[in-house]
Parts: sequence; structure tokens; C-alpha cells
Amino acid sequence: MKVRVDSERCQGHTLCAMIAPEVFRLREIDGHSEVIDEEVPAGQETQVIEAVNSCPERAISTID
Ligand code: F3S
Repeated sequence: MKVRVDSERCQGHTLCAMIAPEVFRLREIDGHSEVIDEEVPAGQETQVIEAVNSCPERAISTID
């Protein structure tokens, strides 16, 4: 599974980084999210799906 954050949509709600801190980190400069690695680490898929569904801006997408 691959994951992406649309930086245009992200408004820094932080939920993704709280749910899956091994996958998402918040940039110091603007607090917006970025993926640490586009390839989702093994065992993190459930958290990533939860992050997708939790983002109020619908900024996160996955590719199987
Ligand atoms: Fe941004 Fe959504 Fe995460 S707005 S910080 S991608 S919860």
C-alpha cells in the first residue's frame, strides 16, 4: 500500500500524525502533514485507513 498527502488540501488538523506517527509527520514550517515514506510499513495499514477516514480535509489517499 502507498499513501500520499495532498499538501494543497491539508490544513494541519494533526489527526493523521496522532493516529499513525510512524507514517505521517508534521512539517515544522507550517504544521502540515507529509508522509515519512510513501510505502506504508507492514502492520500500519489499519492506522493509515483510519487516518484517511479521520482527515476532515480528505487530504490523504492510498493506492493498493
Ligand atoms: Fe492534514 Fe488531514 Fe493530517 S488536514 S495534518 S492530512 S488530518
